[in-house]
Amino acid sequence: MKLDKLLINCGQLLTMDHKTNIAKGEQMNVLPQIENGAIGWKDGIIEFIGTTEEADNYQSDDIIDCQGKLVTPGLVDPHTHLVFGGSREHEIALKQQGVPYLEILKQGGGIHSTVKATQDASFEELLEKATFHMKRLLSYGVTTLEAKSGYGLDRETELKQLKVVKELQEIQPMTIASTFLGAHAIPKSFKDDPESFLDEMETLFSEIKEEGLAEFVDIFCEEGVFTIDQSKQYLSKAKEAGFSVKIHADEIVSLGGTELAIELNAASADHLIAASDEAVEMFGSSDTVAVLLPGTTFYLNKDSYAKARGMIDAGGSVALATDFNPGSSPTENIQFIMNLAMLKLKMTCEEIWNAVTVNAAKAIHKDEVSGRLQVGRHADVVIWNAPNYQYVPYHYGVNHVHTVFLKGKEVAKGGAFLE
Ligand code: NIG
Ligand code: FE
Repeated sequence: MKLDKLLINCGQLLTMDHKTNIAKGEQMNVLPQIENGAIGWKDGIIEFIGTTEEADNYQSDDIIDCQGKLVTPGLVDPHTHLVFGGSREHEIALKQQGVPYLEILKQGGGIHSTVKATQDASFEELLEKATFHMKRLLSYGVTTLEAKSGYGLDRETELKQLKVVKELQEIQPMTIASTFLGAHAIPKSFKDDPESFLDEMETLFSEIKEEGLAEFVDIFCEEGVFTIDQSKQYLSKAKEAGFSVKIHADEIVSLGGTELAIELNAASADHLIAASDEAVEMFGSSDTVAVLLPGTTFYLNKDSYAKARGMIDAGGSVALATDFNPGSSPTENIQFIMNLAMLKLKMTCEEIWNAVTVNAAKAIHKDEVSGRLQVGRHADVVIWNAPNYQYVPYHYGVNHVHTVFLKGKEVAKGGAFLE
C-alpha cells in the first residue's frame, strides 16, 4: 500500500497499546512501545505500525527519517477551562500578599472576576480567544482535550460558552470533550441560596442534552462553594438526565468529594490534593480516574501535592492535566505538568506517559479515539526533540515538540503552531 506519510527510525515509538482502555496500578509502569519503530498513514488514518525493518513493505513519497527521536500519540489534556473572557494578572499583588484563593473568591474576585469578563464578551471574542489557547495547547503536543463552561453562572452565558466549544468541535480537527460546569461558584445574586442556583442550573440539563452541548456535568465541591450534599443531589440529577459526571473534589479542603465521585461512579475525580487516606485507597477498586493537576498546586503555592503514589500503589488509575484556566493554573504547557509529576508527585516516567495518554483519554471517554496508536485510528502523532521518553519529564520548562500531526496533517513544528 502507498502511504501519504511514513515515519521511520523512531528510536522509541510509544504505541501505548495496552489492549485495555485504562492503565491501573502496576500497569501504569508498563509502556507499550516499539524500538526503532515506524508508523504510516493514509487519509489521516493509521495504516501501519511496526519496526523500521517492517516498513520496507510499504511505499510513500513522503518518508521522514526520525533519526532516533521519540515518537508518541498526541497527548490528551483531560481538564481545561478553555473558554473564558479576560485574565487575572491584576490579582498578582493579592496572591503575593498571601491572600488565600478562597478568600479572593469570597471577596468577589477570582472566578467572579472572570465571570464578569465572560458575560461581557461576545461569542466571537470567546471563540477567537479559546482558539488561540487551543492552538497553544496543540503546540505543546496536545491533540485531544476537555473544555469546561463555568464562567457564566447564568443561563445565557453558560450556553454561550458551551456553544463556543461546540463550534470548535465542528470547525477544527482537534478532538474535544465538553463539560457543563454551571456549578462552578455561587453567583452574588444567589449568595444566600445556593440550592436555588443549582435548581436554576439543573433547568439547563435538558437543553444541553438535546443540543449535544456537553457530555459531562461537573461541580466545584469545596468549602464556601458547594457542599457534599448539594453536589450529590445535583450530580445524581445530572446522571438521571443522561450525563456522565466529574467533580472538582478536595482541591483545598478535605470535604469527601473524592469518595462521592467514586460512589457516583464518576468518569473522573479531579484535583484531590486534600483527599483522605481512605479515599486514596478507594481508587484501587474503582474505574473512576484520578485526574491530578500539579500545576494548580504549584501556582496556588501549596506545599503538599496530591497523593499520586498512594493512588497508583493502591491499584488506581491516574491521569494528568493542565487545568488551564485564568486563575489557579494559567498555562497551556502540559510538558511542565509532566515535569511536576516527576518531581512533586513522584510518579515514574512510565506512569507519567500513561497519565497523559491512555488514562487521560479514559477520563474524558475518548479512549476509543485518542491516547493510543493503533491501525484504524486517527494519525494524531508527535515527534519529540528527545532521545527517549524519560527526557521530557526530566528537562523542564521548555517545549520539546519537534512536529505534531493532527489527523495526519502537520500542524505544529518546533513548538510553534503552523497557520
Ligand atoms: O480547577 N477550582 C475551581 N476551578 C478552577 C479554577 C477556576 C479559576 O480560578 O478561574 C480550578 O482550579
Ligand atoms: Fe479545574
